[in-house]
Amino acid sequence: MKGIILAGGAGTRLYPVTKVYSKQLTLIYDKPLIYYPLSILMLGGIRDILIISNDETIPLYKKLFDSGNNLGLNIQYSIQDKPNGIAESFIIGEKFIGNDNVTLILGDNIFYGNLSFFYESVNEHKNGAVIFAYRVTDPERYGIVEIDKNDNVISIEEKPKIPKSEYAVPGLYIYDNKVIKISKNLKPSARGELEITDVNRVYLESKELKAKKIGRGVAWLDTGTPEALLQASSFFGVIEDRQGLKVACIEEIAYYKKFINKEQFATVVTSLPKSDYRNYLEKILSE
Ligand code: G1P
Repeated sequence: MKGIILAGGAGTRLYPVTKVYSKQLTLIYDKPLIYYPLSILMLGGIRDILIISNDETIPLYKKLFDSGNNLGLNIQYSIQDKPNGIAESFIIGEKFIGNDNVTLILGDNIFYGNLSFFYESVNEHKNGAVIFAYRVTDPERYGIVEIDKNDNVISIEEKPKIPKSEYAVPGLYIYDNKVIKISKNLKPSARGELEITDVNRVYLESKELKAKKIGRGVAWLDTGTPEALLQASSFFGVIEDRQGLKVACIEEIAYYKKFINKEQFATVVTSLPKSDYRNYLEKILSE
């Protein structure tokens, strides 16, 4: 299973900060936003990861993660020239994906809680597409999936004016290799984008789309507006402060998932500047 993080988009709702840097680099409590989706892929056991962003931002991500080798990862980078849509990720990432299956996570999607729904789906996945369904109060803002009692998908629509359900499709998708061909055959939507919802509709038509409901114990947080960023920061601030444990700490995850051994972890920790982040990792190292 390969992993793609799409860290694109203009982030206009976060202007003026997004005039100078990408939304996925903004701070969520104590680390950049992109750490959260990256940690989800890592926790799912995915180590080959492609980060897609615009040409101005790719150098910043490279500075942040480099090859990822120090964390036992293989991180590659590709440019999306214009925000041509989420599905373009599979065209841009064709070489990177090769003959494998692929999980895509949007660089601004944050999940927190028991994520076994995702880990199990990645482990079990062979063919077709798996999407998730999360109950929201503002369904007209998302891809919306209608599901029957047996979790079969009846319909899927992008930002419907009159939503058929309250179940939004979060930006986390698992596909087989056909997704490359399907994306290449798409036509841009009215907003000029290759829509991920259209990819999912192709899988639905060939009866290869599964939607799994995410329970209420999981938080799927929005990061699109200043209020949402503040809420997400407070949320993680409260949890980290209470437990003394960090969320989405990629160095810690690499160590616990055994992507790196203790010696390699020690090398990573001692390379960090003096900071609370380093103090935290030193504590983990000494346990
Ligand atoms: C995109 C997808 C939408 C999905 C959402 C999740 O919306 O098109 O189907 O529900 O991400 O974050 P966008 O962020 O492009 O408006």
